[in-house]
Amino acid sequence: MTSIWTPDSWRQKPILQQPTYPDAAALAEVEQQLSKQAPLVFAGEIRQLKKQLAAVGRGETFLLQGGDCAESFAEFSANNIRDTFKVMLQMAIVLTFGAQKPVVKIGRVAGQFAKPRSDGFEEQNGVKLPTYRGDIINDIQFDPVARVPDPERLLRAYYQSAATLNLLRAFSRGGLADLNQVHEWNLAFVKKSPLGERYEDLAHRLTETLAFMKACGINTDNSPQLHETTLYTSHEALLLNYEQAFTRQEEATGKWYDTSAHMLWIGDRTRQPDHAHIEFARGIGNPIGLKAGPSTKVDDLLRNIDALNPDNEAGRLNIIVRMGANQVEEFFPPLLRAVEQHGKTVTWSCDPMHGNTIKTNNGYKTRSAESVLTEVKQFFQVHRAEGTVAGGVHFEMTGRNVTECIGGQYNLTEHDLADRYHTHCDPRLNADQALELAFLIADNLKSAQA
Ligand code: PEP
Ligand code: CO
Repeated sequence: MTSIWTPDSWRQKPILQQPTYPDAAALAEVEQQLSKQAPLVFAGEIRQLKKQLAAVGRGETFLLQGGDCAESFAEFSANNIRDTFKVMLQMAIVLTFGAQKPVVKIGRVAGQFAKPRSDGFEEQNGVKLPTYRGDIINDIQFDPVARVPDPERLLRAYYQSAATLNLLRAFSRGGLADLNQVHEWNLAFVKKSPLGERYEDLAHRLTETLAFMKACGINTDNSPQLHETTLYTSHEALLLNYEQAFTRQEEATGKWYDTSAHMLWIGDRTRQPDHAHIEFARGIGNPIGLKAGPSTKVDDLLRNIDALNPDNEAGRLNIIVRMGANQVEEFFPPLLRAVEQHGKTVTWSCDPMHGNTIKTNNGYKTRSAESVLTEVKQFFQVHRAEGTVAGGVHFEMTGRNVTECIGGQYNLTEHDLADRYHTHCDPRLNADQALELAFLIADNLKSAQA
Protein backbone atom coordinates (compact mmCIF):
# COMPACT_ATOMS: atom_id res chain seq x y z
CA MET A 1 0.00 0.00 0.00
CA THR A 2 1.35 3.44 -0.84
CA SER A 3 1.44 5.98 1.94
CA ILE A 4 -0.05 9.44 1.68
CA TRP A 5 1.95 11.99 -0.30
CA THR A 6 2.48 15.52 0.92
CA PRO A 7 4.96 18.11 -0.42
CA ASP A 8 7.21 17.23 2.51
CA SER A 9 6.66 13.45 2.74
CA TRP A 10 10.11 13.01 1.12
CA ARG A 11 11.58 14.17 4.43
CA GLN A 12 10.70 10.78 5.99
CA LYS A 13 12.79 8.87 3.44
CA PRO A 14 16.51 8.21 3.06
CA ILE A 15 18.10 10.83 0.85
CA LEU A 16 21.41 11.13 -1.02
CA GLN A 17 23.41 14.02 -2.45
CA GLN A 18 22.19 16.74 -0.08
CA PRO A 19 24.34 19.47 1.45
CA THR A 20 24.70 19.81 5.20
CA TYR A 21 23.95 23.40 6.17
CA PRO A 22 25.72 24.53 9.33
CA ASP A 23 22.82 26.75 10.41
CA ALA A 24 19.49 24.89 10.32
CA ALA A 25 17.50 27.94 11.46
CA ALA A 26 18.89 30.09 8.65
CA LEU A 27 17.96 27.38 6.15
CA ALA A 28 14.41 27.12 7.54
CA GLU A 29 14.06 30.90 7.26
CA VAL A 30 15.10 30.85 3.59
CA GLU A 31 12.74 27.95 2.86
CA GLN A 32 9.94 30.10 4.31
CA GLN A 33 10.89 33.01 2.09
CA LEU A 34 11.07 30.81 -0.99
CA SER A 35 7.65 29.37 -0.36
CA LYS A 36 6.23 32.91 -0.64
CA GLN A 37 7.93 33.73 -3.94
CA ALA A 38 6.01 33.90 -7.19
CA PRO A 39 5.91 30.66 -9.19
CA LEU A 40 8.12 30.57 -12.28
CA VAL A 41 5.72 28.55 -14.41
CA PHE A 42 2.00 27.85 -14.40
CA ALA A 43 0.02 24.62 -14.25
CA GLY A 44 -1.54 25.22 -17.68
CA GLU A 45 1.89 25.40 -19.30
CA ILE A 46 2.97 22.23 -17.49
CA ARG A 47 -0.08 20.36 -18.79
CA GLN A 48 0.62 21.68 -22.29
CA LEU A 49 4.14 20.25 -22.15
CA LYS A 50 2.81 16.92 -20.93
CA LYS A 51 0.54 16.72 -23.96
CA GLN A 52 3.46 17.49 -26.22
CA LEU A 53 5.61 14.83 -24.57
CA ALA A 54 2.83 12.32 -25.13
CA ALA A 55 3.09 13.16 -28.86
CA VAL A 56 6.86 12.68 -28.63
CA GLY A 57 6.26 9.20 -27.22
CA ARG A 58 4.07 8.36 -30.21
CA GLY A 59 6.77 9.55 -32.62
CA GLU A 60 4.75 12.50 -33.92
CA THR A 61 7.18 15.10 -32.64
CA PHE A 62 10.79 15.08 -31.51
CA LEU A 63 12.16 16.20 -28.15
CA LEU A 64 15.20 18.45 -27.94
CA GLN A 65 16.30 19.06 -24.37
CA GLY A 66 19.53 20.95 -23.79
CA GLY A 67 21.52 23.57 -21.98
CA ASP A 68 24.20 23.95 -19.36
CA CYS A 69 25.35 21.13 -17.14
CA ALA A 70 25.21 23.69 -14.35
CA GLU A 71 24.09 27.29 -14.57
CA SER A 72 26.30 29.61 -12.59
CA PHE A 73 26.11 33.08 -11.09
CA ALA A 74 29.32 34.13 -12.88
CA GLU A 75 28.22 33.08 -16.38
CA PHE A 76 24.82 34.76 -16.16
CA SER A 77 24.43 37.27 -18.98
CA ALA A 78 21.78 38.16 -21.53
CA ASN A 79 24.17 37.38 -24.39
CA ASN A 80 24.90 33.87 -23.13
CA ILE A 81 21.23 33.13 -22.75
CA ARG A 82 20.48 34.57 -26.19
CA ASP A 83 23.21 32.54 -27.86
CA THR A 84 22.16 29.26 -26.30
CA PHE A 85 18.59 30.06 -27.30
CA LYS A 86 19.77 30.64 -30.89
CA VAL A 87 21.55 27.28 -31.01
CA MET A 88 18.41 25.55 -29.76
CA LEU A 89 16.42 27.26 -32.51
CA GLN A 90 19.03 26.30 -35.11
CA MET A 91 19.00 22.67 -34.02
CA ALA A 92 15.22 22.66 -33.96
CA ILE A 93 15.00 24.07 -37.47
CA VAL A 94 17.45 21.49 -38.79
CA LEU A 95 15.30 18.79 -37.24
CA THR A 96 11.99 20.26 -38.33
CA PHE A 97 13.05 21.08 -41.87
CA GLY A 98 15.30 18.04 -42.34
CA ALA A 99 13.13 15.40 -40.72
CA GLN A 100 9.74 17.04 -41.23
CA LYS A 101 8.87 16.69 -37.57
CA PRO A 102 7.87 19.40 -35.13
CA VAL A 103 10.28 19.78 -32.26
CA VAL A 104 9.46 20.21 -28.58
CA LYS A 105 12.18 22.36 -27.01
CA ILE A 106 13.10 22.14 -23.34
CA GLY A 107 16.04 24.03 -21.85
CA ARG A 108 18.22 22.86 -18.99
CA VAL A 109 17.83 26.40 -17.79
CA ALA A 110 16.28 28.81 -15.28
CA GLY A 111 16.93 26.52 -12.30
CA GLN A 112 19.62 24.02 -13.34
CA PHE A 113 22.01 24.78 -10.49
CA ALA A 114 22.34 21.85 -8.08
CA LYS A 115 24.78 19.09 -8.96
CA PRO A 116 25.04 15.50 -7.76
CA ARG A 117 28.69 14.56 -7.30
CA SER A 118 30.47 11.21 -7.46
CA ASP A 119 32.77 12.29 -4.66
CA GLY A 120 31.81 14.20 -1.51
CA PHE A 121 35.32 15.64 -1.23
CA GLU A 122 37.89 17.19 -3.53
CA GLU A 123 41.62 17.00 -2.91
CA GLN A 124 44.21 19.43 -4.26
CA ASN A 125 47.90 19.29 -3.26
CA GLY A 126 47.12 17.30 -0.13
CA VAL A 127 44.28 19.61 0.97
CA LYS A 128 40.82 18.03 1.19
CA LEU A 129 37.63 20.12 1.04
CA PRO A 130 33.92 19.38 0.63
CA THR A 131 33.06 19.14 -3.04
CA TYR A 132 31.43 21.93 -5.08
CA ARG A 133 27.71 21.13 -5.45
CA GLY A 134 26.54 23.93 -7.71
CA ASP A 135 26.13 27.69 -7.17
CA ILE A 136 22.78 27.19 -5.47
CA ILE A 137 24.68 25.45 -2.64
CA ASN A 138 28.31 26.56 -2.35
CA ASP A 139 31.14 28.28 -4.25
CA ILE A 140 33.40 26.61 -6.82
CA GLN A 141 36.50 28.32 -5.44
CA PHE A 142 38.80 25.84 -3.67
CA ASP A 143 38.64 27.50 -0.30
CA PRO A 144 37.28 26.17 3.01
CA VAL A 145 34.92 29.10 3.58
CA ALA A 146 33.67 29.19 -0.02
CA ARG A 147 32.73 25.53 0.14
CA VAL A 148 30.40 25.89 3.16
CA PRO A 149 26.75 25.54 2.00
CA ASP A 150 24.99 28.90 2.26
CA PRO A 151 21.15 29.05 2.24
CA GLU A 152 21.15 32.61 0.82
CA ARG A 153 22.29 31.04 -2.44
CA LEU A 154 18.87 29.42 -2.81
CA LEU A 155 17.29 32.87 -3.06
CA ARG A 156 19.92 34.13 -5.47
CA ALA A 157 19.39 31.10 -7.72
CA TYR A 158 15.66 31.76 -7.71
CA TYR A 159 16.09 35.43 -8.68
CA GLN A 160 18.50 34.52 -11.47
CA SER A 161 16.07 31.85 -12.70
CA ALA A 162 13.26 34.41 -12.78
CA ALA A 163 15.40 36.87 -14.77
CA THR A 164 16.53 34.12 -17.16
CA LEU A 165 13.01 32.93 -17.77
CA ASN A 166 11.82 36.48 -18.33
CA LEU A 167 14.41 36.87 -21.10
CA LEU A 168 13.58 33.52 -22.64
CA ARG A 169 9.91 34.39 -22.76
CA ALA A 170 10.80 37.71 -24.43
CA PHE A 171 13.06 36.00 -26.97
CA SER A 172 10.35 33.42 -27.72
CA ARG A 173 7.62 35.97 -28.35
CA GLY A 174 9.45 39.18 -29.23
CA GLY A 175 10.78 38.44 -32.71
CA LEU A 176 14.05 36.55 -32.24
CA ALA A 177 12.30 33.25 -32.95
CA ASP A 178 10.73 34.59 -36.17
CA LEU A 179 11.49 32.11 -38.95
CA ASN A 180 12.51 35.05 -41.14
CA GLN A 181 15.45 35.43 -38.72
CA VAL A 182 16.77 31.98 -39.55
CA HIS A 183 20.08 33.36 -40.91
CA GLU A 184 20.53 35.41 -37.75
CA TRP A 185 20.65 32.30 -35.60
CA ASN A 186 23.90 31.19 -37.21
CA LEU A 187 26.53 32.37 -34.73
CA ALA A 188 29.59 34.09 -36.21
CA PHE A 189 32.07 31.37 -35.27
CA VAL A 190 29.89 28.62 -36.73
CA LYS A 191 29.39 30.39 -40.07
CA LYS A 192 32.97 29.65 -41.12
CA SER A 193 32.71 25.89 -40.63
CA PRO A 194 31.41 23.45 -43.29
CA LEU A 195 28.43 22.87 -41.06
CA GLY A 196 27.71 26.55 -40.95
CA GLU A 197 27.53 26.40 -44.74
CA ARG A 198 25.24 23.40 -44.66
CA TYR A 199 23.03 25.33 -42.29
CA GLU A 200 23.08 28.43 -44.52
CA ASP A 201 21.95 26.27 -47.41
CA LEU A 202 19.01 24.98 -45.38
CA ALA A 203 18.22 28.53 -44.23
CA HIS A 204 18.08 29.69 -47.87
CA ARG A 205 15.63 26.96 -48.73
CA LEU A 206 13.53 27.89 -45.74
CA THR A 207 13.56 31.58 -46.71
CA GLU A 208 12.37 30.64 -50.19
CA THR A 209 9.59 28.54 -48.72
CA LEU A 210 8.53 31.44 -46.50
CA ALA A 211 8.45 33.77 -49.51
CA PHE A 212 6.25 31.28 -51.33
CA MET A 213 3.93 30.95 -48.32
CA LYS A 214 3.74 34.73 -48.03
CA ALA A 215 2.69 34.92 -51.67
CA CYS A 216 -0.06 32.43 -50.80
CA GLY A 217 -1.25 34.67 -47.96
CA ILE A 218 0.35 32.80 -45.03
CA ASN A 219 2.48 35.31 -43.15
CA THR A 220 3.66 36.35 -39.70
CA ASP A 221 0.60 38.56 -39.20
CA ASN A 222 -1.90 35.75 -39.57
CA SER A 223 0.21 32.75 -38.47
CA PRO A 224 1.83 33.25 -35.04
CA GLN A 225 3.68 29.94 -35.31
CA LEU A 226 5.94 31.59 -37.91
CA HIS A 227 7.28 34.15 -35.48
CA GLU A 228 6.85 32.68 -32.02
CA THR A 229 8.08 29.63 -30.24
CA THR A 230 7.92 27.99 -26.84
CA LEU A 231 10.96 26.97 -24.87
CA TYR A 232 10.00 24.99 -21.80
CA THR A 233 12.29 24.86 -18.76
CA SER A 234 13.68 21.93 -16.82
CA HIS A 235 16.26 21.03 -14.22
CA GLU A 236 17.27 18.15 -12.00
CA ALA A 237 15.03 18.00 -8.93
CA LEU A 238 17.99 17.37 -6.65
CA LEU A 239 17.67 19.91 -3.89
CA LEU A 240 14.28 18.94 -2.53
CA ASN A 241 13.83 21.76 -0.05
CA TYR A 242 14.01 24.20 -3.00
CA GLU A 243 11.53 22.09 -4.99
CA GLN A 244 9.17 21.75 -2.03
CA ALA A 245 9.06 25.52 -1.63
CA PHE A 246 7.73 25.89 -5.18
CA THR A 247 5.28 23.02 -4.99
CA ARG A 248 1.87 24.64 -4.98
CA GLN A 249 -1.67 23.34 -5.14
CA GLU A 250 -3.72 24.54 -8.08
CA GLU A 251 -7.00 25.89 -6.80
CA ALA A 252 -9.11 24.83 -9.76
CA THR A 253 -8.05 21.18 -9.77
CA GLY A 254 -6.59 20.58 -6.31
CA LYS A 255 -3.50 19.09 -8.01
CA TRP A 256 0.05 19.77 -6.90
CA TYR A 257 2.60 21.16 -9.32
CA ASP A 258 6.25 22.03 -8.82
CA THR A 259 6.22 25.54 -10.26
CA SER A 260 10.02 25.92 -10.35
CA ALA A 261 10.12 24.46 -13.89
CA HIS A 262 7.88 22.78 -16.43
CA MET A 263 9.74 19.48 -16.27
CA LEU A 264 11.87 18.02 -13.49
CA TRP A 265 14.15 15.04 -13.72
CA ILE A 266 15.64 12.57 -11.27
CA GLY A 267 19.36 11.92 -11.68
CA ASP A 268 21.12 8.61 -12.04
CA ARG A 269 22.51 8.84 -8.51
CA THR A 270 19.21 9.53 -6.72
CA ARG A 271 16.72 7.15 -8.35
CA GLN A 272 16.57 4.53 -5.55
CA PRO A 273 12.92 3.36 -5.45
CA ASP A 274 12.46 3.76 -1.69
CA HIS A 275 14.30 7.07 -1.39
CA ALA A 276 13.26 10.70 -1.12
CA HIS A 277 13.59 11.83 -4.74
CA ILE A 278 11.13 9.30 -6.13
CA GLU A 279 8.80 10.04 -3.20
CA PHE A 280 8.81 13.76 -3.95
CA ALA A 281 8.38 13.38 -7.71
CA ARG A 282 5.47 10.95 -7.50
CA GLY A 283 3.18 13.59 -6.02
CA ILE A 284 3.74 16.48 -8.44
CA GLY A 285 1.83 16.76 -11.70
CA ASN A 286 4.77 17.83 -13.90
CA PRO A 287 6.32 15.68 -16.60
CA ILE A 288 9.13 13.75 -14.93
CA GLY A 289 12.43 12.67 -16.42
CA LEU A 290 14.16 9.61 -15.02
CA LYS A 291 17.79 9.01 -15.90
CA ALA A 292 18.74 5.41 -16.67
CA GLY A 293 22.45 4.62 -16.54
CA PRO A 294 24.19 1.26 -16.97
CA SER A 295 23.56 0.20 -13.35
CA THR A 296 19.76 0.47 -13.73
CA LYS A 297 18.08 -2.79 -12.76
CA VAL A 298 14.95 -3.85 -14.60
CA ASP A 299 13.02 -4.37 -11.34
CA ASP A 300 13.97 -0.97 -9.97
CA LEU A 301 13.00 0.71 -13.22
CA LEU A 302 9.59 -0.96 -13.21
CA ARG A 303 9.06 -0.06 -9.54
CA ASN A 304 9.92 3.56 -10.29
CA ILE A 305 7.61 3.63 -13.28
CA ASP A 306 4.77 2.30 -11.12
CA ALA A 307 5.47 4.86 -8.41
CA LEU A 308 5.83 7.81 -10.77
CA ASN A 309 3.14 6.95 -13.27
CA PRO A 310 0.57 4.64 -11.65
CA ASP A 311 -2.11 5.66 -14.16
CA ASN A 312 0.15 4.99 -17.17
CA GLU A 313 -0.50 8.49 -18.40
CA ALA A 314 1.18 9.34 -21.72
CA GLY A 315 3.65 12.24 -21.49
CA ARG A 316 4.14 11.92 -17.75
CA LEU A 317 7.38 9.96 -17.79
CA ASN A 318 10.47 10.46 -19.92
CA ILE A 319 13.19 7.86 -19.48
CA ILE A 320 16.50 9.46 -20.30
CA VAL A 321 18.90 6.72 -21.30
CA ARG A 322 22.59 7.50 -20.63
CA MET A 323 24.58 4.32 -21.03
CA GLY A 324 27.78 5.48 -22.73
CA ALA A 325 28.82 4.79 -26.32
CA ASN A 326 29.28 1.06 -26.91
CA GLN A 327 27.36 0.20 -23.76
CA VAL A 328 23.97 1.01 -25.26
CA GLU A 329 23.49 -2.34 -26.99
CA GLU A 330 24.28 -4.26 -23.82
CA PHE A 331 22.31 -2.31 -21.23
CA PHE A 332 19.46 -0.61 -23.04
CA PRO A 333 17.48 -3.40 -24.81
CA PRO A 334 16.66 -5.34 -21.60
CA LEU A 335 15.14 -2.19 -20.07
CA LEU A 336 13.28 -1.28 -23.24
CA ARG A 337 11.85 -4.78 -23.63
CA ALA A 338 10.70 -5.00 -20.00
CA VAL A 339 8.92 -1.66 -20.25
CA GLU A 340 7.27 -2.74 -23.50
CA GLN A 341 6.27 -6.15 -22.15
CA HIS A 342 4.64 -4.57 -19.11
CA GLY A 343 2.67 -2.22 -21.33
CA LYS A 344 4.12 0.93 -19.75
CA THR A 345 3.69 4.12 -21.70
CA VAL A 346 6.90 6.14 -21.54
CA THR A 347 8.78 8.57 -23.75
CA TRP A 348 12.39 7.54 -24.45
CA SER A 349 15.20 9.98 -24.98
CA CYS A 350 18.97 9.72 -25.23
CA ASP A 351 21.47 11.60 -23.09
CA PRO A 352 24.75 10.86 -24.91
CA MET A 353 26.75 13.05 -22.51
CA HIS A 354 26.86 11.52 -19.04
CA GLY A 355 28.05 8.05 -20.00
CA ASN A 356 30.92 9.49 -22.04
CA THR A 357 32.84 11.67 -19.62
CA ILE A 358 36.60 11.07 -19.56
CA LYS A 359 39.56 12.73 -17.91
CA THR A 360 42.48 13.83 -20.10
CA ASN A 361 46.14 13.49 -19.14
CA ASN A 362 46.26 17.24 -18.56
CA GLY A 363 43.46 16.94 -16.01
CA TYR A 364 40.39 18.15 -17.93
CA LYS A 365 37.02 16.46 -17.78
CA THR A 366 35.93 16.12 -21.39
CA ARG A 367 33.85 14.14 -23.88
CA SER A 368 34.61 13.39 -27.49
CA ALA A 369 32.04 14.62 -29.98
CA GLU A 370 32.57 11.25 -31.67
CA SER A 371 31.44 9.16 -28.69
CA VAL A 372 28.45 11.47 -28.30
CA LEU A 373 27.51 10.90 -31.96
CA THR A 374 28.08 7.17 -31.57
CA GLU A 375 25.77 6.88 -28.58
CA VAL A 376 23.00 8.74 -30.40
CA LYS A 377 23.38 6.46 -33.43
CA GLN A 378 23.27 3.36 -31.24
CA PHE A 379 20.17 4.61 -29.44
CA PHE A 380 18.42 5.02 -32.79
CA GLN A 381 19.59 1.56 -33.92
CA VAL A 382 18.17 -0.15 -30.83
CA HIS A 383 14.80 1.52 -31.35
CA ARG A 384 14.79 0.61 -35.02
CA ALA A 385 15.53 -3.04 -34.16
CA GLU A 386 12.81 -3.16 -31.48
CA GLY A 387 10.21 -1.21 -33.45
CA THR A 388 9.92 1.44 -30.73
CA VAL A 389 10.12 5.23 -30.81
CA ALA A 390 13.40 7.14 -30.33
CA GLY A 391 11.65 10.18 -28.92
CA GLY A 392 14.37 12.70 -28.36
CA VAL A 393 17.77 13.79 -27.13
CA HIS A 394 19.16 15.45 -24.01
CA PHE A 395 22.36 17.47 -24.39
CA GLU A 396 24.75 19.63 -22.43
CA MET A 397 25.54 22.49 -24.76
CA THR A 398 26.05 26.21 -24.94
CA GLY A 399 25.97 28.99 -27.51
CA ARG A 400 29.37 30.15 -26.30
CA ASN A 401 32.41 29.27 -28.37
CA VAL A 402 33.87 27.04 -25.67
CA THR A 403 36.51 24.33 -25.93
CA GLU A 404 35.19 21.70 -23.55
CA CYS A 405 34.44 18.66 -25.73
CA ILE A 406 37.07 17.32 -28.12
CA GLY A 407 36.55 16.50 -31.82
CA GLY A 408 33.86 18.02 -34.01
CA GLN A 409 34.30 20.09 -37.16
CA TYR A 410 37.23 22.08 -35.79
CA ASN A 411 38.80 18.90 -34.51
CA LEU A 412 39.52 20.21 -31.03
CA THR A 413 42.18 18.22 -29.22
CA GLU A 414 43.13 17.75 -25.58
CA HIS A 415 45.56 20.64 -25.95
CA ASP A 416 42.85 23.05 -27.07
CA LEU A 417 40.77 22.49 -23.93
CA ALA A 418 42.70 25.06 -21.90
CA ASP A 419 41.70 27.85 -24.35
CA ARG A 420 38.09 28.41 -23.38
CA TYR A 421 37.10 25.87 -20.76
CA HIS A 422 34.38 27.66 -18.77
CA THR A 423 31.94 25.05 -17.51
CA HIS A 424 31.19 24.87 -13.80
CA CYS A 425 30.65 21.16 -14.04
CA ASP A 426 30.54 18.84 -17.06
CA PRO A 427 31.94 19.72 -20.52
CA ARG A 428 29.39 21.11 -22.97
CA LEU A 429 29.12 20.86 -26.72
CA ASN A 430 29.76 24.19 -28.40
CA ALA A 431 27.42 25.51 -31.08
CA ASP A 432 29.04 23.81 -34.04
CA GLN A 433 29.34 20.46 -32.27
CA ALA A 434 25.66 20.74 -31.34
CA LEU A 435 24.70 21.62 -34.90
CA GLU A 436 26.59 18.62 -36.22
CA LEU A 437 24.51 16.42 -33.95
CA ALA A 438 21.31 18.02 -35.15
CA PHE A 439 22.19 17.14 -38.75
CA LEU A 440 23.04 13.59 -37.75
CA ILE A 441 19.74 13.17 -35.92
CA ALA A 442 17.79 14.68 -38.81
CA ASP A 443 19.40 12.13 -41.14
CA ASN A 444 18.52 9.30 -38.75
CA LEU A 445 14.94 10.45 -38.37
CA LYS A 446 14.59 10.72 -42.13
CA SER A 447 15.88 7.22 -42.69
CA ALA A 448 13.59 5.89 -39.93
CA GLN A 449 10.64 7.33 -41.84
CA ALA A 450 11.78 6.04 -45.24
C1 PEP B 1 23.21 15.78 -15.34
O1 PEP B 1 22.25 15.66 -16.13
O2 PEP B 1 23.90 16.84 -15.26
C2 PEP B 1 23.62 14.61 -14.53
C3 PEP B 1 24.33 14.74 -13.43
O3 PEP B 1 23.21 13.47 -15.07
P1 PEP B 1 23.17 11.97 -14.47
O4 PEP B 1 22.29 12.01 -13.28
O5 PEP B 1 22.58 11.19 -15.62
O6 PEP B 1 24.58 11.58 -14.17
CO1 CO C 1 26.17 17.11 -16.40
